[in-house]
Amino acid sequence: MDLSWILNHLGEDREQYFGAVAPPIVQSSIFAFPTVASMRTGFRDELGNHVYTRGNNPTVEILRKKVAALEGAEDCLMFGSGAAAMSAAAIACVSGGDHVVCVAKPYSWTRAVLKDLLGRFGVSTTFVDGTEIANFESALTERTRLIVLESPNSMTFEQQDLAAVAALAKARGIRTLCDNSYATPLNQSPLALGIDLVAHSATKYLNGHSDVVAGALCGGAVLIREVFRGPYMTLGAILAPHDAWLMIRGLRTLPIRMERIAATTSHVLAFLEAHPRVRRVYSPRAHGNPQLGLSERQLHGASGLLTIELDAADVAAVERFCDGLERFLMTVSWGGYESLAFPVCAVYPADAQLHPPPGLSLSLVRLSIGLEEPEVLIADLDAALARL
Ligand SMILES: Cc1ncc(COP(=O)(O)O)c(C=O)c1O
Repeated sequence: MDLSWILNHLGEDREQYFGAVAPPIVQSSIFAFPTVASMRTGFRDELGNHVYTRGNNPTVEILRKKVAALEGAEDCLMFGSGAAAMSAAAIACVSGGDHVVCVAKPYSWTRAVLKDLLGRFGVSTTFVDGTEIANFESALTERTRLIVLESPNSMTFEQQDLAAVAALAKARGIRTLCDNSYATPLNQSPLALGIDLVAHSATKYLNGHSDVVAGALCGGAVLIREVFRGPYMTLGAILAPHDAWLMIRGLRTLPIRMERIAATTSHVLAFLEAHPRVRRVYSPRAHGNPQLGLSERQLHGASGLLTIELDAADVAAVERFCDGLERFLMTVSWGGYESLAFPVCAVYPADAQLHPPPGLSLSLVRLSIGLEEPEVLIADLDAALARL
């Protein structure tokens, strides 16, 4: 199936709605049946029919089909956030007494669901440096049921060899879940490498317009139905039809947005790598990245996230740099049409320098490159760097 078919037509049954080119927002919580027999059929398969919008809604279903096809998955569930997608996947795979292995630096709320929430229900998690396959192997126990990956992660971009982890897990009957938000389905295909479940913060590139919070979970039909019957229906963290409609609209331009973002990011990366006031640039494509070989093998292209470590004397200098940016909006999240800057030091109290957080430099600033002209962004960064 070609990409433009998926984005422009797949799942869209225009004869059902007056030939309208844009699908309707089916803003209905419930769907009526003409007969008891047809209602019974609906109940037998709530994911495949339309009974109640907490289960399946026609507008959301169009989006599910498109995202599943992009990931090369048999099925997909859409959630009200990426955090909900990761949580539902993890909850579906474990019971009290089970053990999880997770990469050392996942997204903070992924760590929280494993450590804090599931930890309260007797599930233990070991966090490992995922850059070495041996670390996964040595962390496994008799009770390991799930390996949680995020490749690359969204701050310092460490990657895991997905095919190797999948093979290790499969041989022991352990499930694998990978957060693929950075790469998008266009730039990395974890399912094709043997991973069982792929999650996205669809808030980021998939939607791409910073106006929807959404999540996606893709995988085989049997596993997705297990998640549907379990945490999806019980926790009810669904995507509303209107948000699904916005996401369908955003998704239509994913390839051209990603193409433009990749091209601009390579210019910005080259500028930052050559700048004397930038100590280090973190990116899967950065020159000094020890995993460049894996980036080339596993990622089909670059995204627009990179993190710089500023050559800053103190946090005040980092603040001068960030406050001086005019074309980068300073905020959380990433993956939209607009460029963003996220200073790590903003997460900590103003005097954090006196007691720095372990393992994290307060001079790190993450940039999300958007659709602006590269020269505009470079000029803005140059001016802000001069304030250091
Ligand atoms: C890598 C990654 N995964 C998951 C999430 C969670 O997604 P959401 O904010 O859509 O819940 C985020 C959010 O920033 C993220 O960066």
